[in-house]
Amino acid sequence: MTAQVVLGVSGGIAAYKACELLRRFTESGHDVTVVPTAAALEFVGAPTWAALSGKPVSTEVWTDVHAVPHVRIGQAADLVVVAPATADLIAKAAQGLADDLLTNTLLTARCPVVLAPAMHTEMWEHPATQANVATLRRRGVVVIEPAEGRLTGTDTGKGRLPDPAEIFELARGVLDRGVGAPDLSGLKVVVSAGGTREYLDPVRFLGNRSSGLQGYALARAAASRGAHVTLVSANVSLPDPAGVSVVRVETTDQLRDAVVAATATADAVVMAAAPADFRPTTVSDAKIKKAEDGSAPSIALVQNPDILAEISHERGRAGAVVVGFAAETGDATGSVLDLGRAKLARKGCDLLVVNDVSGGAVFGSNDNEAVILGADGGVVEVPHGSKTALAHVIWDEVLRRFAG
Ligand code: CTP
Repeated sequence: MTAQVVLGVSGGIAAYKACELLRRFTESGHDVTVVPTAAALEFVGAPTWAALSGKPVSTEVWTDVHAVPHVRIGQAADLVVVAPATADLIAKAAQGLADDLLTNTLLTARCPVVLAPAMHTEMWEHPATQANVATLRRRGVVVIEPAEGRLTGTDTGKGRLPDPAEIFELARGVLDRGVGAPDLSGLKVVVSAGGTREYLDPVRFLGNRSSGLQGYALARAAASRGAHVTLVSANVSLPDPAGVSVVRVETTDQLRDAVVAATATADAVVMAAAPADFRPTTVSDAKIKKAEDGSAPSIALVQNPDILAEISHERGRAGAVVVGFAAETGDATGSVLDLGRAKLARKGCDLLVVNDVSGGAVFGSNDNEAVILGADGGVVEVPHGSKTALAHVIWDEVLRRFAG
């Protein structure tokens, strides 16, 4: 479906990255109107925006006045994305000022609005900016947390514009859900993703086939619905989702520490990671060499902590919703669902997303199908579809637990 997208660009060095965002929208078939501020044109000129969008651009309300652009552009939009959003633009939006075409557009838009801030760390952390961001979020605007990393000049810190491809994914998620306030706004959620590694020596480990795709889809979906998301990522080679704070870990012990720390203040935790159940009893400091007599070493294993059971039984916060995953094949003792119900009870979580992994079809695939079992007896069958679609159903079920 072709949507009317307004791409607002304010005056920061990251304006050049908005060119890629624009391309992604147009290549997906959307009709994009670029509304730069005058300061944005100091960084990237009007001909670039006009050529990439196929439309003339204006920064002020005095061009084509007969067409009343200061209200028409906002009224007609299905989505407004401002990337980068400077501290100044955010302040104006929070105050409802309207001294150019972009700020007028923000006042007249009735569609979802996404702001992707980019600025120096000091400006982002300033109480004035934080208050303005909080005001906008309260009003239903999705304000993406900036990424950490290299800023203009030699500085590094929080304030970087996230990867344009990831801003696009988040914006697409907002667009797909349509009008309505972001329903996870104000909630802190933790998602774990990927598979842990248990080292035998400095170069070898025991691992598993988890790709991290489902966990990353959950993190993206939550961010597009306005949640504050911490993603604990174990050995995943996917780009950081926009607006999500990513904590990288390798082993199950590290995953446990990161999840438990983030869970203390979280409203919901989803354990989509595949932690290794066992680790070698000892880790050799030096690379293990082949024996001359041709014999193979035997590896003694010890059991790892069960993170899901721990956070379910010792909730960081009363009322927090805990979600687990169960990859099952079914066996002589029971069907996939029998084993899922037993696991739900054993782990003590609120929801268990049960995947049938007979044949290994789920690993690394963009699709999934599952049954979501609730400790309250609920059963939700999610038909074959994208991991993003499953992620949204999981968040819907989490939200229903809050409402309940
Ligand atoms: N899990 C965990 N800590 C572990 C192992 C698993 O938190 N050490 C979590 C997973 O993230 C998942 C859920 O528990 O959400 C179920 O994982 P699964 O591997 O199916 O469960 P196991 O307890 O390992 O059960 P099984 O004996 O069937 O392998």
